[in-house]
Amino acid sequence: MKPGIDVTLCQAERAGIDLAGRVAVVVDVLRATTTVTTALSNGAAAIIPFADLDECRAYKTKEPGVLLGGERGGLKPEGFDFGNSPLEYTPERVEGRRIAYTTTNGTRALAACRGAEEIFLGALINRRAVTEMMAASGRDATVVCAGKRGGPNLEDTYCAGAIIGLLESLTPDGVDLGDRARIARAVFRDPDAGAVLERCEHGRTLDGLGFGEDVDYCGRLDVVGTVGVLENGEIRAFR
Ligand code: MLT
Repeated sequence: MKPGIDVTLCQAERAGIDLAGRVAVVVDVLRATTTVTTALSNGAAAIIPFADLDECRAYKTKEPGVLLGGERGGLKPEGFDFGNSPLEYTPERVEGRRIAYTTTNGTRALAACRGAEEIFLGALINRRAVTEMMAASGRDATVVCAGKRGGPNLEDTYCAGAIIGLLESLTPDGVDLGDRARIARAVFRDPDAGAVLERCEHGRTLDGLGFGEDVDYCGRLDVVGTVGVLENGEIRAFR
């Protein structure tokens, strides 16, 4: 049977979702899944995600050696070592380190995926790598878009479409696409991912906050071979 592929476009669609037996691919292009993928690719030992800011801070009392990373309102929370710019997570700063991490939408989407058979982190930068892992698993899969303020957003839907388009070409027997997967695939029309990110709402917000370079970086397609896998509460690099 062909693997069934679906997408949740936003937070509202994640409520009560049953991911048992499925691969979940969490996507928050701007910027959580791009940032985590970059940190792991630059040698971070593990990222420990928290939906809640206070829980993230409190984790440091349990494990004082941990670094803290993430954002609220796009900016670094007080006392944190890193904000949410992927460009901050350099090999010099992250090599071998464990990082407790919280963001507004991305880490919430990760929390909603408990119960999935496998949980991968996808972004434009690792689109090919994460899609190859989906194809290799052969399981039904759901791309879980973080979205924005409870609703869908352009960049995550576009990335879901980029993943699905490639997955179709990597799966000789075909895949069975749900309606939302078809919607996402239709959104992935413009091959210039960088231009799509520049014009989406959150791209413009980040640019206004001085993070234009992040937007450029997050819009590069297939430039990183690392995929983060969430297992037992920690995200580690699969490859
Ligand atoms: C989020 O999780 O909401 C984003 O990663 C926000 C951001 O761009 O920092």
